[in-house]
Amino acid sequence: MSKPILVLENLHAAVEGTEILRGVNLELPPGEVHALMGPNGSGKSTLANVLMGHPAYEVTAGRILFKGEDVTELEADRRSRLGMFLAFQYPVEVPGVSMLNFLRQSLNARRDQDLKPREFRTLVDGKLKLLGMDKAFARRNLNEGFSGGEKKRNEVLQLALLEPELAILDETDSGLDIDALRIVSESVNSMRGPGIGFLVITHYMRILDYLEPDVVHIMLGGRIVKSGGPELAGELEAKGYDSVRKQYGEPAPQEEATAP
Ligand SMILES: Nc1ncnc2c1ncn2[C@@H]1O[C@H](COP(=O)(O)OP(=O)(O)O)[C@@H](O)[C@H]1O
Ligand SMILES: [Mg+2]
Repeated sequence: MSKPILVLENLHAAVEGTEILRGVNLELPPGEVHALMGPNGSGKSTLANVLMGHPAYEVTAGRILFKGEDVTELEADRRSRLGMFLAFQYPVEVPGVSMLNFLRQSLNARRDQDLKPREFRTLVDGKLKLLGMDKAFARRNLNEGFSGGEKKRNEVLQLALLEPELAILDETDSGLDIDALRIVSESVNSMRGPGIGFLVITHYMRILDYLEPDVVHIMLGGRIVKSGGPELAGELEAKGYDSVRKQYGEPAPQEEATAP
């Protein structure tokens, strides 16, 4: 079997001195779509940020291997150049910066070459067509006045252009997520293939209505407490996160060693 795209070994990470990830283990082979699910506050977004090398998060133990290479200490832009992609849960608005400019800069950085504006526009228009999006969309300013669904389409467009080998999609837990998840899932389903692995992070239990993950992981208290096939998402939908909490319990606080 070919090398996994992503391996997490006993990953621990802290924000402002508080340990949030407490030993995450995961293996994602190429071509697979993994869903990471879990209640609010379980550490899903923290994991996404740690994977992309967000400077506010400190890895305190364990390793992140991308295509066999230890990237635990690499800067975010190095990771993205290597082929890791993170769609932000709350994409920023950048008034006055056109999406075309933003996308071209991202792509040039990823490919380490300068595409001519015209070559780039041809490429973008091809992707827009493929995704069934309007040409005018990419001519707008970055996320300015975008609806939730449009922000998601923007992420999907970035994803299609950058052609990463690992895509980490962190879905919002807010009210727009059903629509957003549908948009993202449809594009994930259309982009999946042997050269790319997906880690789709969601709180939304009915994910199976949209996405066909190969593996479902459940995160609780900064650890993956259970992994399984798509049936796991169905089980969650039926029983809810409370049943997971009951079964695994929130990890107990560290107890002081007592003399026997
Ligand atoms: N930048 C931060 N500063 C302080 N605490 C944080 C920060 N980011 C996350 N946390 C805390 O880490 C825990 C996990 O949060 P998060 O990873 O956002 O969970 P999820 O995405 O699963 O809802 C929460 O208790 C949250 O308050
Ligand atoms: Mg989150």
